[in-house]
Amino acid sequence: MSQTTMSTKILSRSFIFSIGRQWCQIRNGSTNMEKVIVASKEPFCENLTKGTRYSWCTCGLSHKQPFCDGSHEGSGMRPHRMKAEETCEVFFCGCKQTKTPPYCDGSHMSDDVQACVIGSSLS
Ligand code: FES
Repeated sequence: MSQTTMSTKILSRSFIFSIGRQWCQIRNGSTNMEKVIVASKEPFCENLTKGTRYSWCTCGLSHKQPFCDGSHEGSGMRPHRMKAEETCEVFFCGCKQTKTPPYCDGSHMSDDVQACVIGSSLS
């Protein structure tokens, strides 16, 4: 399967989970598009457990992607906290450019993200 085909398939599943189902409660978060680091050019597929709280990394600096490891300290950014309301598989944004945090919205397919070096911000 080609990279593009696989990404399209992942994107489609992401929309099913992030738009078609209301399964999580978003509690807070922040996005500063000028400082964020592209952690991945594809989303992260994760299995969540009902009732468990998660902190999605918004800054892109975490070494435990897609989750926060505290590396944001001093950046003025903070993680996007949420609680899973059901056990399910989701696709978290890895490029940190999504308009529907913390879920993939396909922004990783943009020319800017695909041209970016992983670990750097968009120019
Ligand atoms: S938000 Fe990125 S490490 Fe915490």
